[in-house]
Amino acid sequence: AGSAPLQVLGQTFPTDAWTNLTPSIASKTDRKLHLIPGHPLGILKQLIFDQFPGYAYLDTLPPVVTTEANFDSLLIPTDHPSRSRHDAYYLNATTMLRSHTSAHQLEVLRDHGHRAFLVAADVYRRDEIDASHYPVFHQMEGVRAFSPTERADGTIQREIAAMQETIRRAGVTATEDNLVGQSDRAALQPEHTGQADEVYPVIDHLKTSLNYWVAGIFGRMARYHEATGRPDLAERLGTTDRIPVRWIEGNFPFTTPSWEMEVLYQGAWLEICGCGIMKQKIMDDAGLQDHIGWAAGFGLERLAMVLFDIPDIRLFWSEDPRFLEQFRPGTITQFAPFSKYPPCPKDISFWVPTLLASAGSDAATETGFHENDLMDLVREIAQDLVEDVKLVDRFAHPKTGQTSLCYRIVYRSMDRSVTNEEINELQERVRTRVAEQLGVTLR
Ligand code: PHE
Repeated sequence: AGSAPLQVLGQTFPTDAWTNLTPSIASKTDRKLHLIPGHPLGILKQLIFDQFPGYAYLDTLPPVVTTEANFDSLLIPTDHPSRSRHDAYYLNATTMLRSHTSAHQLEVLRDHGHRAFLVAADVYRRDEIDASHYPVFHQMEGVRAFSPTERADGTIQREIAAMQETIRRAGVTATEDNLVGQSDRAALQPEHTGQADEVYPVIDHLKTSLNYWVAGIFGRMARYHEATGRPDLAERLGTTDRIPVRWIEGNFPFTTPSWEMEVLYQGAWLEICGCGIMKQKIMDDAGLQDHIGWAAGFGLERLAMVLFDIPDIRLFWSEDPRFLEQFRPGTITQFAPFSKYPPCPKDISFWVPTLLASAGSDAATETGFHENDLMDLVREIAQDLVEDVKLVDRFAHPKTGQTSLCYRIVYRSMDRSVTNEEINELQERVRTRVAEQLGVTLR
């Protein structure tokens, strides 16, 4: 509170007690990785756009949004954990960096007037630090809203048949190993009572669209491996012509019914997409009372790491030509890692004041210390030299009631050797700032 205004993308925002956006995160807003045609995220985005002709593509919507757009417009309750200052980046109490592309659902339906669209964008969430978590990542949102006419004149059924025919001709199918035919048993919104016969086809359209998407993306990779003489890599998908998918019942405040779609990859089910039938209230707010729509959202990094064989999420942010020169627009190729530099682990231990020293409880609850504050502090100082931060030890002092936490910070550069002095200097700065800012006592 009382600090200087914040600058993001050339705009100035007043700060207040909610402000928690750090300069290093703010500086990521102008990288726009998904707009670089030869970047894996740009390549993947374009391949997906190309699969859905007839949809509007929006990939330049600015990341600063209102809390109203990010949460309220989606009926996310005021006590929902995703609103926490520990989980989202706030410029101030009413302005934030979007935490998901769903923030644009209402705006695009109501103000842009699109009924079928894809949004690709950078999204921001405070999170742990490891090889698959980064506070900035990219999502794609798909929305399709059907008018009463389209629901009556066979449009939905024709589109479903066309998508099925396309993947059949490509020789790839997504097969549902689970919950087959359960669309007709899913609980619908009260608003859709009496309209079941119109909602089920929309559910079928949603599932077919996502099967078609997965078959296209994973099938393309399988054919690539075969063409380049690496059938062993193609094998890892299971078989090249059959991409197993399944639908798990999901729960989102803005869709009912909801699912999480999973794809079988290397013997494990990979959760890749959240989706469902849009809440009718959102349609009403968009002025589309008589439309019924589906929405789906998924993260691009998780998919790109699998498809391009990228082992560490920090690589997406690398400006090293040895990374960027390996990729070409229009194709999914496997990343050949350049030399791996040695990791440099450093431990930091401190006492946190505990009111109730209950063993095994969440460090955040009783102590006022929150792990994500440590994560952001380390990122701020070490930038992309930090690879992993994990709690490795925790115990409560039997007499004082204080809790001791030990975190292991692993430093490692992706593109150069670092000196011991350089890392020691970073670790010293981390220690000083932890003591100053987190209300803890270093051991
Ligand atoms: N916005 C959700 C997320 O980030 C994903 C989602 C999008 C779910 C659209 C349902 C419909 O997890």
